[in-house]
Amino acid sequence: EVWNPSGKYRVVSTKSMPGTRWIRLLTDQDCRVEICTEKKTILSVEDILALIGNRCDGVIGQASRELLVLTEDWGEVLFSALKRAGGSAFSNMAVGYNNVDVNAANKYGIAVGNTPGVLTETTAELAASLSLAAARRIVEADQFMRAGLYDGWLPHLFVGNLLKGQTVGVIGAGRIGSAYARMMHSSFFVISCSAYGQFLKENGEQPVTWKRAASMEDVLREADVISLHPVLDKTTYHLVNKERLAIMKKEAILVNASRGPVIDEAALVEHLKANPMFRVGLDVFEDEPFMKPGLAEQKNAVVVPHIASASKWTREGMATLAALNVLGKIKGYPLWGDPNR
Ligand code: DGY
Repeated sequence: EVWNPSGKYRVVSTKSMPGTRWIRLLTDQDCRVEICTEKKTILSVEDILALIGNRCDGVIGQASRELLVLTEDWGEVLFSALKRAGGSAFSNMAVGYNNVDVNAANKYGIAVGNTPGVLTETTAELAASLSLAAARRIVEADQFMRAGLYDGWLPHLFVGNLLKGQTVGVIGAGRIGSAYARMMHSSFFVISCSAYGQFLKENGEQPVTWKRAASMEDVLREADVISLHPVLDKTTYHLVNKERLAIMKKEAILVNASRGPVIDEAALVEHLKANPMFRVGLDVFEDEPFMKPGLAEQKNAVVVPHIASASKWTREGMATLAALNVLGKIKGYPLWGDPNR
């Protein structure tokens, strides 16, 4: 799909993105916009090389896959090809950029952008929804109802956890983790929040009883609901492993809307099998889009397909910011989201 065919700058998007504002933004600034209409979700390096072609000023790409199998593994091969094609800018339509080798981009003088901010509240809301869904067994109960199994009120039917008075733990207290803690705290359920991880300077508004934990183990040991919000890198790969699962409360709820490989998913499956009162809410998976064997059968797991940022406003905002990043580099003004900053 091509917009403004006679535009001076060629900008390629590897996927169709929501809304048209991002397209207008580029075409109004003399860009020719080409949107890949390939139906397959995962583009190969060869597919992307063909999209870059001989002349390309900037690319907007996607980061929806994980460490092991990436949608778009932006490294040496793609950045050098973009450089050869005269390009100077690449932006993920994502806040996460674990699919991007920023050093390789720097080496070829390609600016890298991401889309922070617009997805903070949306992602935190999904983490809060997963916490509630897991606590009150909402998905399990829904499936039971639809299967026609409900034949009357029973004292033991789908008894779950009461969140009022419980402690929430956040691992990775950056933008999204802090927003989640604020949300849970202000929702009158939770009496205290403890967090471990880097606090961003911009997080002025901490929950009243927000406590900075001395160690991640303290959070895992003490919290009733734990939500994971770290970035994925070598230090956070399998952060939640067999040993750390073992120190969590037997009836704890673990939520992950960050990146799948932060949890050792095979160890999690074993833990769920052995501890039926332990519950998880997962938006992301280690080998996305697949789940580790056995996970789908666990009733104590709520699983959704990486939809944390999926609100209309947010997705249009992400597309707009990704376009602004690429345009910024082409026109010589600062990128909106710059992971190097
Ligand atoms: C993000 O913004 O990082 C989302 O997870 C999409 O990849």
